[in-house]
Amino acid sequence: MTISNDTTIGQLLYFTPPLDGSKPYIYINDDGTRPQRNYQQATHEVKIENIRGKEDSVSLDKTGFQFYNRPAAHKSFQNDEEIEKEYYPESIALLKELTGASLVVPFDHTIRRRRPGELDDSPQKRQPVPQVHIDQTPTSSRDRVRRHLPAEDVPRLLANRFQIINLWRPIGNVALDWPLALCDGRSVDEHVDLIPTTLKYPDRDGETFSVKFNPNHRWKYLRGMTPDEVVLIKCYDSKEDPSLATFTPHTAFEDPSTPADAPLRQSIEVRFLVFYD
Ligand code: OGA
Ligand code: FE
Repeated sequence: MTISNDTTIGQLLYFTPPLDGSKPYIYINDDGTRPQRNYQQATHEVKIENIRGKEDSVSLDKTGFQFYNRPAAHKSFQNDEEIEKEYYPESIALLKELTGASLVVPFDHTIRRRRPGELDDSPQKRQPVPQVHIDQTPTSSRDRVRRHLPAEDVPRLLANRFQIINLWRPIGNVALDWPLALCDGRSVDEHVDLIPTTLKYPDRDGETFSVKFNPNHRWKYLRGMTPDEVVLIKCYDSKEDPSLATFTPHTAFEDPSTPADAPLRQSIEVRFLVFYD
């Protein structure tokens, strides 16, 4: 494969199922004494299309992700409390504007800064994620509604359309280093490619989708995203309509077209429950 302005190549880490047929799991924030996970990864070389200049070719409904130029008023991203006080409200307003949703509820955020050689993956030291995944399954998406919304509202909210969307933005500098690749939802065979995987936290279990390689997958990215640019990543959509993208696999990848002097990637993603009347 060759690199051009329009495409690059990535060595993407996909999932291979446990050999004994058991359900895949991975420990998060573990003390390091247990085996971290019961499955293997496999590297696959894929072509990744740079859609800079063709941003209109993707959308939340069609591909499951969409790029916008929307500078943030909050710039520092140093302090979780400040982020919740300042960045959450402007992000709620932005999500409402971009989706037309009637209610949007942020439920967590992750700051990632690449630190070559750093092995500590504690919450304050998260780095880009080099594994193809989707943050939620339909089961864990509904669980999120039950966890974060008042019990009396849950039946009504679960009866209407809702989504889980991540708002992802570079921080501080252009994200040429280890950018985020996104997989066109139309190229995903949900019943074959997506494998529910248990996230074992110290206090509870969550569930994400691991992703098996499929040569049909069509990968895209926006080269050189700036802190003024965001991508919405749809992880779940309760509306069952074959013409709508429902799941968006994504992963960080080492881009061979990145200039050697590019600053290390820093980013924030805020996760939202997004409800429609
Ligand atoms: C996400 C995600 C990985 C990264 O935003 O859900 O998986 O490297 N991000 O930014
Ligand atoms: Fe993710």
